[in-house]
Amino acid sequence: MTRKALAPVLLLVTVTLATFGLSTWHPFSPDTAPAAEAEGDVARGETVFSVNCSGCHGTDASGGVGPALVGTRLTATEVASIVAEGRGVMPAGLVQGQDAADVAAYVASL
Ligand code: HEC
Repeated sequence: MTRKALAPVLLLVTVTLATFGLSTWHPFSPDTAPAAEAEGDVARGETVFSVNCSGCHGTDASGGVGPALVGTRLTATEVASIVAEGRGVMPAGLVQGQDAADVAAYVASL
């Protein structure tokens, strides 16, 4: 075989490998976790709390218009759902996404 005759074969092999290679590449695969379900960061949550929650629950979470949250037995997941859905006069969805996860981790740690 001459070099000229090999060229189309090489091209075909290259294209075939590239096609199969790309078919296994999923840059936008849906199993990438959304930010809202990320782990909460307690330190960041403390800041989120003082900005969004302390007005009702007290700067040290010892209570005010809203009940004391110090020593709460609620888990981070429960706090996150209370924040998302609201409770009594507490409005729903005060914080969202990563902020909600962080503040839930903070409250659960109190
Ligand atoms: C407008 C005032 C207000 C704000 C702002 C507010 N809350 Fe509340 N929160 C309340 C009140 C009032 C309740 C009690 C509701 C009831 O049980 O009827 C409550 C209840 C809760 C509870 C349930 C406590 C328990 O022991 O059942 C959690 C947890 C909570 N709030 C977390 C938060 C977090 C976190 C934030 C900030 C993102 C926040 N709250 C902001 C007023 C507020």
